Amino acid sequence: MRIVLLGPPGAGKGTQAAEVARRAGIPHISTGHMMRAAIQSGTPVGERAKGFVDAGRLVPDDVMIEVVRERLAQDDCAPGFLLDGYPRTVAQAGALKNLLTELDLALTHVVELVVPNDVLLERLLERGAREGRSDDAAEVIAERLKVYEELTRPVSAFYAEAGSLVRIDGVGTIQEIQERLAAALENGPGEP
Ligand code: AP5
Ligand code: MG
Repeated sequence: MRIVLLGPPGAGKGTQAAEVARRAGIPHISTGHMMRAAIQSGTPVGERAKGFVDAGRLVPDDVMIEVVRERLAQDDCAPGFLLDGYPRTVAQAGALKNLLTELDLALTHVVELVVPNDVLLERLLERGAREGRSDDAAEVIAERLKVYEELTRPVSAFYAEAGSLVRIDGVGTIQEIQERLAAALENGPGEP
């Protein structure tokens, strides 16, 4: 399975992706997690990403496209992968398509978690209070939601036009959403 999991900040991508990837025996690739790890280790990518992540803005496409290209070339991606938080711009979606075409591969599923903004805000503020993730401060969350509307919403349209997008309701218990997701992956649209 080669899966893209879309959804706004706080939609539950990371929560759900971990379980789906574990069950499918494929790596869970979270570009947000990769950026936070790079920032913590002070790598060149981390140095470039830091200001953007702290401000709730997107890391530039050229950086992200290269990071994902390198990650997907690793051996553990041979049986498939689950991308969480990528692509986030139409340019990234195009680059992913080109990369997979080069490798003679295609995505098998594109699933979007749909969650209204008031629920997103509540979840992220709660996590900010609990875990102290710096981009979960109220003003940074607002920026992340704005960036999502402007730059990532069109990615859903990109896949919807290709006929490969499945939208599922991301409100409910973690278990309920896991079951909806499992059903969507079983009845996926096939090769987008
Ligand atoms: P990233 O880490 O991807 O952040 P995000 O998508 O903005 O938001 P989250 O990861 O916080 O949300 P999620 O959907 O994973 O939800 P989660 O499961 O955690 O990106 C961070 C930054 O990195 C970006 O802002 C950008 O700067 C940079 N970046 C990353 N990818 C990039 C790209 N491709 N291009 C450019 N820049 C990029 O859940 C959230 C909370 O809700 C948790 O506390 C969880 O426990 C709770 N929760 C989950 N499900 C439920 C439920 N069903 N009910 C109640 N609570 C729930
Ligand atoms: Mg996440």
